[in-house]
Amino acid sequence: MVSAPAQDTRFRLGEEQARALAEQYGTPLYVLDETHLRTRIRRYREAFQACYPDVDLAFASKANSTLAVLAIAAAEGCSIDVASEGELRAALAAGVPAGRCHLHGNNKQLEEIEFALDQGVGKIVVDHFGEIEALGEFHRERGGLGVTQLVLRLAPGVDPVTHEKISTGQADTKFGFNIADGSGERAALRLLELGLPLVGFHCHVGSQLLDPEAQRSGGELIARFALRMKSEHGFEARYLNVGGGLGVIYTDQDRPMPVEEYCRLVVKAVTRALEGSGLHPILGQEPGRALVAESGVTLYRVGVVKTVPAKEVGTRTYVAVDGGLSDNPRPAIYGSRYAIERVSSPATATTKDEVLVTVCGKHCETDRLFEASVPADIAPGDLVQVLTTGAYGSSMASTYNRYPRPATALVRPDGSFSLVQRRDTWDEMIARESVPEDL
Ligand SMILES: Cc1ncc(COP(=O)(O)O)c(C=O)c1O
Repeated sequence: MVSAPAQDTRFRLGEEQARALAEQYGTPLYVLDETHLRTRIRRYREAFQACYPDVDLAFASKANSTLAVLAIAAAEGCSIDVASEGELRAALAAGVPAGRCHLHGNNKQLEEIEFALDQGVGKIVVDHFGEIEALGEFHRERGGLGVTQLVLRLAPGVDPVTHEKISTGQADTKFGFNIADGSGERAALRLLELGLPLVGFHCHVGSQLLDPEAQRSGGELIARFALRMKSEHGFEARYLNVGGGLGVIYTDQDRPMPVEEYCRLVVKAVTRALEGSGLHPILGQEPGRALVAESGVTLYRVGVVKTVPAKEVGTRTYVAVDGGLSDNPRPAIYGSRYAIERVSSPATATTKDEVLVTVCGKHCETDRLFEASVPADIAPGDLVQVLTTGAYGSSMASTYNRYPRPATALVRPDGSFSLVQRRDTWDEMIARESVPEDL
């Protein structure tokens, strides 16, 4: 058995809080702790600033674009990484100035680019040659891109040790420009030829990185690229962003590197490569999950506990919660595992023994969420919390099976609760639809 990580940094609800939240807002319910989130962001920022003088910590809003989260991230000094017009609109609605947003996307629509330029987005991270030509066109038509700066997304050719669906920096990727085959250099030269405001380079090698070697070498490779662009073409990068990706504790088996160590490692990789070059770029990172995942839990109520015959293992116990695939698709997409804890001990609880069960949801397919240890007397009616769901939960939720997406409650620093995202209503589930009159 693996013991819990030495420093278990995950937020979890106490029994009283959990009961009160369930009573007030129902389940399933996403719960975020404001103090935990602010502390995580501050710790990351301080760690980054401690090893480099000029940093840009961006929050990758794909992880959680609830307006309250965006407002907190911005108040804690983050810029906001947005991956679509929708995420940019959410940041603006949360009061984040457009100039503090970076727009990503491997297939941005012209309308998205136009909207971002109209708003005065701070940076556009350029992903392919067609986008360069489109930006050139906007530049000609508008007499410049206004305040917007351009950053070139590079694929450094690094294979991280993580799930293939969250690996993004290898050579065989849909994202960015390959360094090794010369595309990155050609793209940079084309931007400069068109007179576009290129300021630097970006890479994101992957997510949930528990072995930071990939991130280290990604940082080193884009720094070396910047160096070459200076020595061979006289282009001086003023901005380098090494992406996000630091892992978090989903289960007791996960042991992410402390953020202080991680920042030191990444910064060292970049500064070593730039030594003596005269380049002193602003250094950016854009973590998502490392800032918000551990600050959130999902509160569910157990509906069914069922033990059935199972091949090889003899029997399997299913514990069905009142949510599942629609509020957390990560187990289905990535095979992600989570920790689940019972938060309400019924008066009938008789044992502290744990059993391994299959936690499942209430959707039509066999949505086995993950295997986990739970108290042996877990029973219908128990409240449970799934930890580390502050990232890629609400932002990936769907209304599959016409289940309303859960609400999000924010636990404020004074212990009170704020409903920052309400549950979908039945009316809005069908509001987009109509039935032709002859049907
Ligand atoms: C370009 C980019 N930046 C940042 C992130 C955030 O990753 P994470 O939440 O693992 O930090 C992602 C994740 O997909 C990404 O693609």
